Amino acid sequence: MAINRTSSHGEWSSRTAFILAATGSAVGLGNIWKFPYITGENGGGAFVLIYILCVLFIGIPIMLAEVYLGKRGRLNPIASIKYIADRENRSKNWQLIGLIGIVAGILILSYYGVIAGWTMAYTVRTAFGTLNNIDALGAASMFADLVSDPERLLAWHTIFSIITAIVVAKGVKSGLESAVVRLMPALLVLLLALVIFSAIEGDFYNGFKFMLYPDFSQVTWTTVLIALGQAFFSLSLGMGALMVYGSYLSSEISIPQTCVIVASLDTIVALLAGLAIFPIVISSGLEMTQGPGLIFQTLTVAFGAMPGGQLFGTLFFILLIFAAWTSSISLIEPMIIWLIEKYNISRIKAAIIAAGTAWLLGIGTIISFNVGSEIKIFNMTIFEFLDYLTSNILLPMGGILITIFVGWLISKENIDSELKIKSRVLKASWYFSTRILAPIAVIIVMLNALGFSTNIFL
Ligand code: PFF
Repeated sequence: MAINRTSSHGEWSSRTAFILAATGSAVGLGNIWKFPYITGENGGGAFVLIYILCVLFIGIPIMLAEVYLGKRGRLNPIASIKYIADRENRSKNWQLIGLIGIVAGILILSYYGVIAGWTMAYTVRTAFGTLNNIDALGAASMFADLVSDPERLLAWHTIFSIITAIVVAKGVKSGLESAVVRLMPALLVLLLALVIFSAIEGDFYNGFKFMLYPDFSQVTWTTVLIALGQAFFSLSLGMGALMVYGSYLSSEISIPQTCVIVASLDTIVALLAGLAIFPIVISSGLEMTQGPGLIFQTLTVAFGAMPGGQLFGTLFFILLIFAAWTSSISLIEPMIIWLIEKYNISRIKAAIIAAGTAWLLGIGTIISFNVGSEIKIFNMTIFEFLDYLTSNILLPMGGILITIFVGWLISKENIDSELKIKSRVLKASWYFSTRILAPIAVIIVMLNALGFSTNIFL
């Protein structure tokens, strides 16, 4: 077995470093930008509850499986799975999982970088005091101004792509690890401060109630399926990101414990973001259902009104850029190490090729908010299509293949000797979820993505 193999790309210096890096991957725009707006669009409390159940019973088990594959394979996602499939006498076609992951990573990064660019633009605006005393209407028109300008969006997207490439070019330890260790705790503290501000200045009671009081009359199968897709996206599952991070994990570190910590931190950050944002949305008379612009329009009103909001807001957006940055690094890393291992090129070259590809594809997302907003693929704008294709099709497809491969095709002794789950109940639950619950639930997501679910399941 692979117990003593190590990755040729380096290793995390400690368990904490891995936890922070994996949390850095998980915590990103998905928590602070996407979670609030899709919770707003899907009715609040019941959606949040279903999301948490998806994280617990589907997300965490898949996360364990994914990190297991990386830690055992120690190579890029395609080669890791091929290596394991060889040893388990399984078809090498399972390496398709790795390929789906690499493609999904670059497609997500292409639009993720554009949204991160919005965050950068807002950092500058906040820092220069443009937001001071802005009202809800002003915030809405400022957002509309930004997204209608393709050149400005391209400039920010380009800057973000360059900083992503620079960190990955430096490698795992000196680039990523040292940055994550300092900045993740800072993000958490600022988010807490924002929740306190929102409690004092916003309509905390109604915001809290909207987010945590489950009204099941609003729930449809689609709500469940969107929550499941978000669990994949937010926990960085189904595309090899955590597989790659697992491949840098030293052999004595326990996978299950670390995964539970990462998933908990990710969920706490999403909930805090919701608690910071909804009270402000309500007290400023903004719409819950306004979609991708939600945080940019609510937070600006909050920062504009609060004492010290200029400084506080600037810091917040900087940390949000950072959160996006640590996630984008994990989106690109699978392609980078695949390029290095397959074509024997330097990390720098690989970083340029991968970031350049995501940058180029990002132009599609940029124009989907302005000059190309009429271009429709299956009735969606380019941005909506890419989000849909990745969250609803590619990540779940990767996830389902991972659960089947790990749950059914790898020998139990090999898994048990690596995962070492002591509690019998937990072990049985993990197997149940990986073999049965998760694949079935994910199939439902896929059917929804293909437009079958509501007819079949309701
Ligand atoms: N989890 C990130 C977020 O919530 O912003 C996005 C992401 C990163 C998705 C890495 C998938 C991934 F592999």
